[in-house]
Amino acid sequence: MSWRAVVLTLFPEMFPGPLGQSLAGRALKDGIWSLQAHDLREHGLGRHRTVDDTPFGGGAGMVMRPDVVDAAIAHASADAPDLPVVYLTPRGRRLDQADARRLAAGPGIVLLCGRYEGVDERVLEARQVEQLSIGDYVLSGGEPAALVLLDACVRLLPGVMGSDDSAGEESFSDGLLEYPHYTKPAEWQGRSVPPILLSGHHASIAAWRRTQSEDATRTRRPDLWAAHAGAASPDHRIRLPVSPRGHN
Ligand code: ADE
Repeated sequence: MSWRAVVLTLFPEMFPGPLGQSLAGRALKDGIWSLQAHDLREHGLGRHRTVDDTPFGGGAGMVMRPDVVDAAIAHASADAPDLPVVYLTPRGRRLDQADARRLAAGPGIVLLCGRYEGVDERVLEARQVEQLSIGDYVLSGGEPAALVLLDACVRLLPGVMGSDDSAGEESFSDGLLEYPHYTKPAEWQGRSVPPILLSGHHASIAAWRRTQSEDATRTRRPDLWAAHAGAASPDHRIRLPVSPRGHN
């Protein structure tokens, strides 16, 4: 059984979009995952297929109706009752690599993409919808966020990345940012590659890369660094000696 994505959206033509290309696109054609974009408007009410209404309590914008969203989720869940439902919203918990790993390890996802000011809270409660944000900025709708979440999950599915080790060494796999990369030419516009990378000493290269990862994380992402240091030692002030690939 392939990993299954069902997207509930007012703009089904936005899918698969970029996910029809490259690694995800190949995996889609190969049947490693499947994608179904379902038009929320099909569950709209009346002649105009209305999906939204004005917010109780006043304020700007429109809110998606709970009955319409519920009907769409019911339709999506009818032949896939085991899929978790995720709503993309800036009010959600911040998506991270652990979420991608968890969702990729399951049977798939139903993704609810909101427009307007949001979705009536009651249907999110009633359907036990998980709310995720892709970052602290506001998009005009959840569709780009759904594409981001799907990309992060699909590349982790068995057979998508091939047999190389890049998924194991990349940023966040051990809570650190990745080390910098270099390729040919060894000298470019007066800039040379760090000499250690040309030395052939695998242990020294691994140690150098480890230090680069740690320095980048400490300076660019103090939040990640604090979590990493906290996980390595109960006392945040102590920096434990680490093995080159960090599996200490
Ligand atoms: N919809 C609008 N902005 C969003 C964000 N930052 N993350 C997820 N969904 C969104």
